Amino acid sequence: MSFTLLQGFFSPVFSVILLSSALLNAEMIVPMGKSRSASFEYVAKDYTYLFGMQGFNDALLKMHFQLYQGYVKNTNLLLGRMKELEQQDKDLSYDYGALKRRLAWEFDGMRLHELYFENLGGEGLLDKSSELFQRISKDFGSFEAWKKNFSAIGMMRGIGWTILYRDSQSGRLFNIWINEHDLGHLAGGEPILVMDVFEHAYITQYGLDRGKYIGVFFDNVKWERADKRYNDALKAKAALTQ
Ligand SMILES: [Fe+2]
Repeated sequence: MSFTLLQGFFSPVFSVILLSSALLNAEMIVPMGKSRSASFEYVAKDYTYLFGMQGFNDALLKMHFQLYQGYVKNTNLLLGRMKELEQQDKDLSYDYGALKRRLAWEFDGMRLHELYFENLGGEGLLDKSSELFQRISKDFGSFEAWKKNFSAIGMMRGIGWTILYRDSQSGRLFNIWINEHDLGHLAGGEPILVMDVFEHAYITQYGLDRGKYIGVFFDNVKWERADKRYNDALKAKAALTQ
């Protein structure tokens, strides 16, 4: 079921029903076949250390973790089934193409949730002397101007993600809207800060008040993690140019 088609028609109750259905479907379609031949499987990470985070009740987080685990399972399922078809020399088949088209959605759903959870659990403070703060101020005029723009993108109608991206070539920072999980990414872009704005990220606690959720998100950003991502990207760029 496409949540996008239903955007704008949700009542909180209807959304919870749909989300429950999505969770059930996620569980129903992810049997881990014993005969799968994938040589590598992703493992869902444990983010239960986030329980107790101010502004996110445990029930919301628990549901969100389950949803994330579904993406991990389905990523493994897709990779396994595609591997089987490749081994059967069926990579020209319609079935193979259909699975391949689905992979980025499941994979990005997995990876974006990891980036999101990992940049939560902090105190919402970015050191003004940090390289990230300085670059944000340079590219957006000020940190507050950047935050205002990032929040506005998060308020866009639709479901998806708001990401502060660094262009690996120019070093320039962009606030980007990602539709669903897989549409809108910058090629070569390096995600620095990731915010989930699917309704499941807040609706059971804040109803349709996405703005309140965004405020709570900022209160809990672990900027140390975002700053590390940024500095790691700078180091990688420096290593390439040596
Ligand atoms: Fe999510």
